[in-house]
Amino acid sequence: MLAGKHILLIICGGIAAYKSLELIRRLQDQGASVTPVLTKAGEEFVTPLSVSALAGTEVHRDLFDLTKEADMGHIQLSRSADLLVVAPATADLMAKMANGHANDLASTLLLATDTPVLLAPAMNVRMWDHPATQRNLAVLAQDGVSFVGPNEGSMACGEFGLGRMAEVPQIIEAVAAKLNDGPLTGKRVLVTSGPTHEPIDPVRYIANRSSGAQGTALARALAGLGAEVVFITGPASVPPPAGVEVVAVETAQEMSDAVDAALPADAGVFAAAVADWRVTSASDRKLKKSKDGLPMMEFAENPDILKRVAHLEEGRPGLVVGFAAETNDVVEHATAKRARKGCDWIVANDVSPGTGIMGGSENAVVLISDDGAEAWPRMGKDAVARKLAERIAAALA
Ligand code: CTP
Repeated sequence: MLAGKHILLIICGGIAAYKSLELIRRLQDQGASVTPVLTKAGEEFVTPLSVSALAGTEVHRDLFDLTKEADMGHIQLSRSADLLVVAPATADLMAKMANGHANDLASTLLLATDTPVLLAPAMNVRMWDHPATQRNLAVLAQDGVSFVGPNEGSMACGEFGLGRMAEVPQIIEAVAAKLNDGPLTGKRVLVTSGPTHEPIDPVRYIANRSSGAQGTALARALAGLGAEVVFITGPASVPPPAGVEVVAVETAQEMSDAVDAALPADAGVFAAAVADWRVTSASDRKLKKSKDGLPMMEFAENPDILKRVAHLEEGRPGLVVGFAAETNDVVEHATAKRARKGCDWIVANDVSPGTGIMGGSENAVVLISDDGAEAWPRMGKDAVARKLAERIAAALA
């Protein structure tokens, strides 16, 4: 996937630095060469010897190194790479980058280059949530820097929340997406994901339990195989992947309009948990308990985006994939749903509360196509996404 690509990997000081040792190996497995840079703080977490032994090359640590300046120099070091990856990227490094500081080798390399940059942030949840970090994040995103993660989970410090560094396969996919190389290069794929919110009044809405995790993983995996991905997402609880075009929507109608605007595409993957109904009696002012009493709500049916796209006479994507979240008779319901919606494949799963699938990190799916029903073992949503993306690549080949 990354044959012939050259990655400059900057490892900053964070407990997640141990994962970067694995990252070096996995990048190499994909055919990339890795030049490592270790910050002073990074050296507190992983040793220069481990990093250079794994990378099979010297690790760069000092800005003021006369031999290297005479030989190659820090300017050359960053310019010769196809991509700069910072993993883990600390709050401090992000602050330096956002403000254009260049007072050590890592920050100087990042300032002295116009090579694309991908950050995998890792920090305590409060540091991530802090307005200063969020401000820096916005500045960096505006400067064209891409991000993978952070993920939500428990942290080394014992707290829970957003701030865990993205897992290695996730970072590899984001790298591949940035370098846009793979079996889906040149293919355009649209992915819908997440829940939709249907307003009741300006402060209340009807929603569902979808986290957007499966759709997000899928968009990341497709981009990792080189696809140009338009990612149309409702208000999800996980951040969107790097290297995709993100279209954020709220309601089913907005999602439907965004899908129309994103067509034509080679494939459409409809992973969103779209609300079936919207409130037609939605109020434009906040309903007051004391004055308005118990609200009476009227509903209308939302557009069925998947069904509509699957039946397009003109501009139908070559492959239309739907999802079916069921709580009983999964294969039977999903097979009927596939016929009703007119899509090529249905990815069905059992989302009964006992399965822990809706909002969880694993999925057990059955792929239903012309070839029948194929049950996949229960695995992580990332693994399901990768397997499905590979199937899509094979179908479009
Ligand atoms: N879908 C869609 N637009 C809708 C509803 C659903 O695009 N308004 C898509 C979903 O993204 C998913 C598939 O259709 O790919 C199946 O969604 P699901 O909610 O299971 O189907 P429903 O039509 O709502 O069927 P039912 O209520 O009978 O389960």
